Amino acid sequence: MDKILIAGGKRLQGEIVISGAKNAALPIIAASLLTGEEVRLLNVPRLNDISTMCRLMERLGAKIISDGERLSIKNKEVASFEASYDVVKTMRASVLVLGPLIARFGEARISLPGGCAIGARPINLHLMALEKMGAEIRVEHGYVVARAGRLKGARIYLDFPTVTGTENLIMAATIADGTTLIENAACEPEVVDLANLLTGMGARIRGAGSDLIVIEGVDSLKGTEYRIMPDRIEAGTYIVASAITGGDLFLRGCPARYLDAVIIKLREAGVDIAEDGGGLRVRRPKKLKSIDIKTMTYPGFPTDMQAQMMALMTVSSGISIITETIFEKRFSHVAELRRLGADIKIEGNSAMVSGVEALSGANVMASDLRASASLVLAGLRAEGETVISRVYHLDRGYERMAEKLTGVGAKIDRVRGSQ
Ligand code: EPZ
Repeated sequence: MDKILIAGGKRLQGEIVISGAKNAALPIIAASLLTGEEVRLLNVPRLNDISTMCRLMERLGAKIISDGERLSIKNKEVASFEASYDVVKTMRASVLVLGPLIARFGEARISLPGGCAIGARPINLHLMALEKMGAEIRVEHGYVVARAGRLKGARIYLDFPTVTGTENLIMAATIADGTTLIENAACEPEVVDLANLLTGMGARIRGAGSDLIVIEGVDSLKGTEYRIMPDRIEAGTYIVASAITGGDLFLRGCPARYLDAVIIKLREAGVDIAEDGGGLRVRRPKKLKSIDIKTMTYPGFPTDMQAQMMALMTVSSGISIITETIFEKRFSHVAELRRLGADIKIEGNSAMVSGVEALSGANVMASDLRASASLVLAGLRAEGETVISRVYHLDRGYERMAEKLTGVGAKIDRVRGSQ
């Protein structure tokens, strides 16, 4: 497994171009199952999770042509209705093929995702909702087996505004018979991006981005061309990279309007963030002030930025309280940050971070996608060398991270692992 070596202490300066959003591209690729016509996607990020989703789609029978950031997908006929355990266990977002498969073909056999480093990650709400739309669903041998005639529009209340649950439901409802109301729907921008793609395919969707979404089923959807939105979490990660190194970065194509909570909290911490033409300019903070963070569903502070903010707060001038309300165990980065000299105490779902003068480089281990990013950020600041192992986690959600950081002055090398 590869490792990343970082010689910390370099101020980052220059421009980073933000890639397409992983969490928009994944449901949008799955949505192409809803039509037999060609769906052409632009600004697709080159990530392992995207390759995994494309491999899954090809097992289902999709014909995919990939050319850099462009994907052409055709689902004329379907060879299989199964998302097998070996795929789903590496990427839980595979569950996003459930809604489209059951809606268009009336059949799906999806491995239950199982838990992951950040929590149990159940999909009970996805299944409850599809049953309300007329699907017969049973769970056997670790698989969800679903069958349906034509799905029926229904009024569905989500106990939790699940992001992929909302996305599965919207996709299923686009070609159901009648109208579907989704109450307490997720409001994340990636849900809106999916709805925009589906509208381009002929779907009739109102209210995406709010907690009440109304979908009027149509008989069929057509092909389209669509450009994926930029990745707000990648952008947020590089905003922190500039702040933690006292740098001066310009983030081209940064979707500032979807990062309100992150930008507001970083400005509160003393980071200078200015919208400037096609992106955001992020400059050195005077002295980083400690701030309190509580993760919430959108438009609140995103859980996918919690680990990155914690890395920043380890070198602030006071005590920060960081509370994680979305996932039950999203603090795996804490033990590793402590190895770099951070002073963090955990009380339940809150972490008390006392700022220290300096971090010192050490060997650390990545555990999940955003925890890995926080270790890179801390390594960029730490004195001496930081060696991060299991960096395959990073490759799932950050396109060419080492190259992008090297391009703005980081001393960062990626070495082939022994095993
Ligand atoms: C999406 O995951 C994102 N993944 C996650 O990003 C993100 O952290 C999460 O939303 C929250 O914003 C993709 O979009 C591919 P949820 P998802 O369903 O949809 C509970 C990253 O780093 N829940 O909104 O799986 C669940 O237990 C990843 O890019 C149920 O109880 O998240 C959790 O506590 C990590 N029953 C909470 O909702 C359900 O049926 C949030 O889960 C579904 C969810």
